[in-house]
Amino acid sequence: MTTSPNTSGVTAIVLAAGAGTRMKSSRAKVLHEIAGRSMIEHALVAVSGAGVHTTIAVVGHDRDQVSAAITAYDPTIVLAVQERQNGTGHAVHVALQALDAPPEGTVVVTYGDVPLLSSQTLSELLVGHRAAGRAVTILTAEVDDPTGYGRIVRDDDGAVTAIREHADASDAERAIREINSGILVVDAEFLGHAVARLESDNSQGELYLTDIVGKAVAEGRPVGAHVLEDVWQTEGVNDRGQLARLGRELNRRITRHWMAEGVTIVDPDTTWIDSAVTLAADVTLLPGTQLLGATSVGAGATVGPDTTLRNVEVGEDATVIRTHGSDSVIGAGADVGPFAYLRPGAELGDGGKIGTFVEVKNSRIGAGAKVPHLSYVGDADVGEGANVGAGTIFANYDGVTKNRSTIGRHARTSSNNTFVAPVTVGDGAFTGAGATIREDVPPGALAVSAGPQRNIEGWVADKRPGSASDQAARERAAEAVPTVEATGE
Ligand code: UD1
Ligand code: CA
Repeated sequence: MTTSPNTSGVTAIVLAAGAGTRMKSSRAKVLHEIAGRSMIEHALVAVSGAGVHTTIAVVGHDRDQVSAAITAYDPTIVLAVQERQNGTGHAVHVALQALDAPPEGTVVVTYGDVPLLSSQTLSELLVGHRAAGRAVTILTAEVDDPTGYGRIVRDDDGAVTAIREHADASDAERAIREINSGILVVDAEFLGHAVARLESDNSQGELYLTDIVGKAVAEGRPVGAHVLEDVWQTEGVNDRGQLARLGRELNRRITRHWMAEGVTIVDPDTTWIDSAVTLAADVTLLPGTQLLGATSVGAGATVGPDTTLRNVEVGEDATVIRTHGSDSVIGAGADVGPFAYLRPGAELGDGGKIGTFVEVKNSRIGAGAKVPHLSYVGDADVGEGANVGAGTIFANYDGVTKNRSTIGRHARTSSNNTFVAPVTVGDGAFTGAGATIREDVPPGALAVSAGPQRNIEGWVADKRPGSASDQAARERAAEAVPTVEATGE
């Protein structure tokens, strides 16, 4: 990785070496997700949207997991390993050493566990910093309970003079409600020499990044604060309660965004939409709907109630009711549900139907084709305009291999059929009720597989004597006796 010598460039340092003990998880803290993205990914999306040209991520605890996730997101991100978490100043020092050459221009420092921070806020922070020609600009917020945070110390003129960590603060300083979010922008050259001179003469024995503020003031270099009204953007996650709280807030922001774009969301509180989902205007989302992953919904479609779709493409004007689906495509004007299960590879053509209690996997159901009731469609191609009868099973698996079956265009298969794969029903062919289809059916043919019905008289009395069935049959026969005897004798 080479570092651009462009002095107007921006380098981001994302701190993600901390332990996250309070999550009590085998998964690294920053890999926990809200709105379908890990917290570290939210942080990386924010910096990449703010015009950053080089990003360094500082990893430590769970570094294998965290590094893999970062590299999967963007392989050009520089990874710096902080063996021991000796403070935020030490973390930044480690980050700078991971570069071939010291960065020039501006450096922005963010945290991997602050998931609501937006690109827009970072851009505004950078613009304000440059316009004021400062050495350091801190992102701050006024909070009701500042316990635990670094406090922003200002002089009588309101100029920032220091950041005091909670552990090191006097009672008077602890009364300050303006806190350090931890996110800051700093002149790259100043950062390099200030970080190299940090000392751990504080109550925690750590190298505090925040001490660069006092150093800048001492050198007469301008320091300022950017006070963010939107406190949510500065909040970090340390436990599962905070994760849920920020997750709900992010969801509130996402639903609000889509409503502003012309989507009707009947109950935003029970509708969950991941960050990467896309919705067209005049989509309607009914209560209890979760749209996850890379799901997209076309104009005029209605989804819900009580529907979960992950990576599903829903066409315009389609209707999807009480459905669970993943990695599937639903065509324009198609109908799905209620109580449908779309497994990966389900593709429903325009105007088609996957109805009630129908499971579909790795199958294409053509335009206008219908599978309305109580069926399993696995590894099948159903042609356009075909109708698959109620209670049909595509027996795709013989216990060893899976095979595909084909139902032709405008074929009409009857109720309670079993298609033993691989088998083909030709275009326009019909099948009879209860048929088990093991051989191909030619186009236009009717396939019946059950033999003629045979009634074996007295079978119950013979094989199940004394049973409730036998009793019921005898009672019925007794009622019928007079007529039978009259005609029989
Ligand atoms: C830091 C700030 C404090 C601010 C608070 C906001 C310092 C000295 N203090 O507090 O003013 O109000 O954030 O949350 O900077 N990290 C590393 N390596 C380390 C230490 C931390 O990568 O050696 C990472 C953590 O994973 C975390 C972030 O830096 O993402 C902040 O660390 P944390 O310990 O939560 O913050 P404090 O130092 O308590
Ligand atoms: Ca913290």
